[in-house]
Amino acid sequence: MNTRPPVVEHRAAGPAVGTTVGTEAIDAVLRRFFVDRRAEADAIGPGFATAVAELEGHVLRGGKRVRPTFAWLGWIGAGGDEAGPTAEAVRHTCAALELLHASALIHDDIIDASPTRRGHPAAHVAFAEHHRHHGWPGDAESFGTGSAILTGDLAQGWADDMIRDAGLPADAYERVGPVWSAMRTEVLAGQLLDLWAEAGHDEEVDSALRIDRYKTAAYTVERPLHIGAAVAGAGAGLVAAYRAFGVDIGIAFQLRDDLLGVFGDPELTGKPSGDDLREGKRTVLLATALRFADDRDPAAAAYLRARIGTSLTADELRSIRGIFTDIGAVDHVERDITRRTGRALAVLEASDATSHGRRGLAAMAVSATQRRW
Ligand code: IPE
Ligand code: IPE
Ligand code: MG
Ligand code: MG
Repeated sequence: MNTRPPVVEHRAAGPAVGTTVGTEAIDAVLRRFFVDRRAEADAIGPGFATAVAELEGHVLRGGKRVRPTFAWLGWIGAGGDEAGPTAEAVRHTCAALELLHASALIHDDIIDASPTRRGHPAAHVAFAEHHRHHGWPGDAESFGTGSAILTGDLAQGWADDMIRDAGLPADAYERVGPVWSAMRTEVLAGQLLDLWAEAGHDEEVDSALRIDRYKTAAYTVERPLHIGAAVAGAGAGLVAAYRAFGVDIGIAFQLRDDLLGVFGDPELTGKPSGDDLREGKRTVLLATALRFADDRDPAAAAYLRARIGTSLTADELRSIRGIFTDIGAVDHVERDITRRTGRALAVLEASDATSHGRRGLAAMAVSATQRRW
């Protein structure tokens, strides 16, 4: 691992979804933030500086910037003026979502034992490699995990700092606070529910949907839109419309992620394919496949229950993908994505968001749920 990561943008995961916010503007805020942090990190000590450099690399070398884009569009849709005096503070507020996201992803990759993220080694893997590279005694993996836990904590703390220092008008800052807090709680709650469902082999579709709502929809779409609305001082009607749109699009976003996790191209997603199955993640896709297989093909159901959550061979992976498709689970999840997207678009259309905001959000609703990366 280099102490100074290249800050070249490496968007292995494909082009940015939605460009209204100007994802370069978000990247510029993040880049400046890390330049400011470097001197402080260097002064504290080289191990810390290396961890900060790893975080900087993680944040700057990829990511679709979905959350800042939704927050920005939420603000625009609530009447925010992109040429007005608050715009720069809103960009900082949006960028803070990427730091919170970095924290979630770094911890998620430890929890899910995922080796890659955004086409690069996951943080815990990079830290373990650093340990091995230096020939240090002791366990490289536990060093990697410990370092990544702390780096993820740091990202969360810095996300809070970035919101505090964003320069929002005092009344807007007051309104954002409770929404930000709720979002932080929800994503952690969702991750806990996910972990516990996996441990308990939960097979309920409703549990998997509840997990998606909290671990993904809340911090990816629903609350970012709510934050944008709160900054602009939007009324209860628009907030309610945004939240309904956000739950549907956010869940559909995770349903797409689950399909990509099984059928996606790692070159495009920057993440492994098939790991959810090896790990035994309780996705809506799996719960649906089990429910259909119980009804239509008990032998396939028994096969899934015996193999999911084990170290699968390539042949076994192929068989499981085949069952998911043949039993109708893939089509069912695709239809649910379409249904949720349609419902969200109808709510958006009926809302009092500005036409500029509605146009941007409608485009995002489609690109976030129909993506291949
Ligand atoms: C990945 O989020 C984690 C999920 C909630 C599914 P993204 O798909 O937005 O990841 P990046 O930021 O583009 O890498
Ligand atoms: C990601 O969930 C949710 C958060 C990071 C909070 P997943 O574990 O399903 O996402 P990927 O597939 O690893 O990105
Ligand atoms: Mg996970
Ligand atoms: Mg994961």
